[in-house]
Amino acid sequence: MLNEITDRIEKLEHDHKQLKYQNLENNKLPEKIDEDIQRLNRLKFRIQNKVENEQNTNFKTAEIKENDVDDLKDTRRIKKEKKDKSLDIKNETENESGQWMDNSKSVLLKGVNQDQFRRYELAYDRVKDFYRQQHEKQTVAYNIQARINFKTKVRDRMSVWDALVKLNKLLDESDPDTELSQIDHALQTAEAIRRDKKPRWFQCVGLIHDLGKLLYFYDAQGQWDVVGDTFPVGCRFSKNIIYYDYFKENPDYKNPLYNTKYGIYSPHCGLKNVMLSWGHDEYMYNLAKEQSILPPEGLAMIRYHSFYPWHREGAYKYLMSEEDKKSLKIVQTFNPYDLYSKSDIRYSVDELKPYYLELIDEFFPNKLVEF
Ligand SMILES: [Fe+2]
Ligand SMILES: [Fe+2]
Repeated sequence: MLNEITDRIEKLEHDHKQLKYQNLENNKLPEKIDEDIQRLNRLKFRIQNKVENEQNTNFKTAEIKENDVDDLKDTRRIKKEKKDKSLDIKNETENESGQWMDNSKSVLLKGVNQDQFRRYELAYDRVKDFYRQQHEKQTVAYNIQARINFKTKVRDRMSVWDALVKLNKLLDESDPDTELSQIDHALQTAEAIRRDKKPRWFQCVGLIHDLGKLLYFYDAQGQWDVVGDTFPVGCRFSKNIIYYDYFKENPDYKNPLYNTKYGIYSPHCGLKNVMLSWGHDEYMYNLAKEQSILPPEGLAMIRYHSFYPWHREGAYKYLMSEEDKKSLKIVQTFNPYDLYSKSDIRYSVDELKPYYLELIDEFFPNKLVEF
């Protein structure tokens, strides 16, 4: 079912590339976009009717029982996997992957106390308020609309460096670990990757991975649709998502179309077919896919870096394809640099600027990027 929605969005994107919207007179543009949105809504209702027709009266009870068993199995499996996790990752990265995925000699990881990060039990009220809003408002309907908004206009044109400078005005309300500025975080991440002698594309990802937070200055309704951990919408929310209880106020939580294990997806359909909650990861991934020459590994890091329920907690494995197994290791290679590089060390922006300007030029061929 999601394939249909994805195809429809792809079609919109294709039409957009064909200058469909640009060729319209200004007064016809809202009408055309509205027409497309209505077509998507009709599609959504068709899907909903189809699923409802297939359900019989005993379905709900059976489903609840099935879900409880699934939860239990999931929790047991995740516990077991966590136990062996560090050993598994080390062996797999050494045996199957490129050298750049080996973090065992990381300078960063040697000096860091990993227990000091993501301590949500000690989080400020602003973090809890943020997640209350995010969990209540990230619905399938909102996510479809956000993607339509994204695909149908260009918000700004500027260089990547200017975008980083612009982003510096944002304080991320979802982050319990740091109140440093965004440019400090971008440089800390990139510098930690560079110090560990990772490839230049990897360093570039470190620098720009959060650049999608620019969304906050354009179409966002708050911070809840820009930052924070991400998760799939359109299927049951995992209990491994931080502050899970706040989902009880999300309309999709009670919607039989979206609250089953697979919801609108099918087993092992692949994460590329899954709609992750809209925010800076999805936004930047889409920009970088079109406008950079970063390799697929770098794009995976950007798209999934906030998907903690998956890359850290081991949830949603039943949606993964074979290809996603590789992506998981890739994202886990990136994650320590994003998380553990947060410190009070401030780099000199002026001193580092020439190095990173050159790096940006290497992977973003056009001087101006369309945001
Ligand atoms: Fe991020
Ligand atoms: Fe980050």
